[in-house]
Amino acid sequence: MELDDAIKERSSVRKFSTKKPDWRDVIECIDACRYAPMAGNNFTLKFIVIDDKEKIQKIAEACQQDFVSQVHYIVVACSQPSRTLNAYGKRGETFVRQQAGSAIQNFLLKITEKNLATCWVGYFVEEQIKRILKIPENVQVEAVFPIGYKSQELKGKAKRAKIDLDNILYFNVYKNKKMRVPRKID
Ligand SMILES: Cc1cc2nc3c(=O)[nH]c(=O)nc-3n(C[C@H](O)[C@H](O)[C@H](O)COP(=O)(O)O)c2cc1C
Repeated sequence: MELDDAIKERSSVRKFSTKKPDWRDVIECIDACRYAPMAGNNFTLKFIVIDDKEKIQKIAEACQQDFVSQVHYIVVACSQPSRTLNAYGKRGETFVRQQAGSAIQNFLLKITEKNLATCWVGYFVEEQIKRILKIPENVQVEAVFPIGYKSQELKGKAKRAKIDLDNILYFNVYKNKKMRVPRKID
């Protein structure tokens, strides 16, 4: 799949078919995260793959979102921030969250390429997730990803509308929408 197609095809799926993904594909999607940029090249993320039905149900309850339980696998992304905090202090707190996002986008693009489906679930009771998965206190839970295949019912349905480029792009100073067009094009 071309990169541009993966970027534009990726979308949040909340209704899954009953087909079980190959666990090796799930691991490959996590492997893609290793290539994300990290401050000082300190890799802060950890990923937990959950296939235990009881744990999946409990995680869905911690997210208070039923669709999270409708899958064979959940991936939970966490940050172990200590090395980055030691290196960068307060700024490191921001770096840890930013690089979680960069790694997660690799994960989502790979999920798309593999024709798998997921939804970034960022709402959950963190303490509950930590208890279920025995995550240490100094580790932050970043996101929960129920992994499956898109339900047939969703095939061909329109994806969420995206913001226009015009609304997010400025030149030279904040809010300036006018680009200085070079007079001469080499
Ligand atoms: C940080 C973050 C947290 C999110 N949390 C949830 C969530 O708890 N539940 C949910 O259904 N979707 C969640 N989403 C998915 C967004 O609703 C979704 O990305 C957005 O509506 C755009 O749709 P798209 O992903 O199909 O492009 C979250 C996305 C992000 C980036």
